[in-house]
Amino acid sequence: MARLTINGKANEVNVDPNTPLLWAIREQVGLTGTKYGCGIAMCGACTVHIDGKAVRSCVMPVSAAVGKQVTTIEGLAAGGALHKVQKAWVEYEVPQCGYCQAGIIMAVAALLKDKPKPTDADIDASITNICRCGTFQQVREAIHAAAKA
Ligand code: FES
Ligand code: FES
Repeated sequence: MARLTINGKANEVNVDPNTPLLWAIREQVGLTGTKYGCGIAMCGACTVHIDGKAVRSCVMPVSAAVGKQVTTIEGLAAGGALHKVQKAWVEYEVPQCGYCQAGIIMAVAALLKDKPKPTDADIDASITNICRCGTFQQVREAIHAAAKA
């Protein structure tokens, strides 16, 4: 058993402490916006925030999230208002199939918190998520738009 705070709510999860956080989020808590892609920290589909920092939850044990604030895509919109990254995603029609997008949005939200006006080089260095639909150009444009919002 472990107690996890996810999107501001306490949850008891009945898993081994070494279980990847992704599976506790999806299968125990039922928040399925966070996706499984590779399972080896390469694609970013599983990105969530822990204490505001982007992490790849497929390789993060549940034990590492105990006592911390976990935020998933479901918790990014505060008080019913979309986050500025989500707004830019809608405006720029970024998603294609959508599978990778929750992870990218979470990675971008963390980037903008650290670097409110990221350069293309900053984006290349920190947004390493993989999109099999190839939305990279739209992602870049939407990040710059969100940075201006
Ligand atoms: S599923 Fe976690 S990085 Fe790909
Ligand atoms: S939108 Fe399809 S994988 Fe990225």
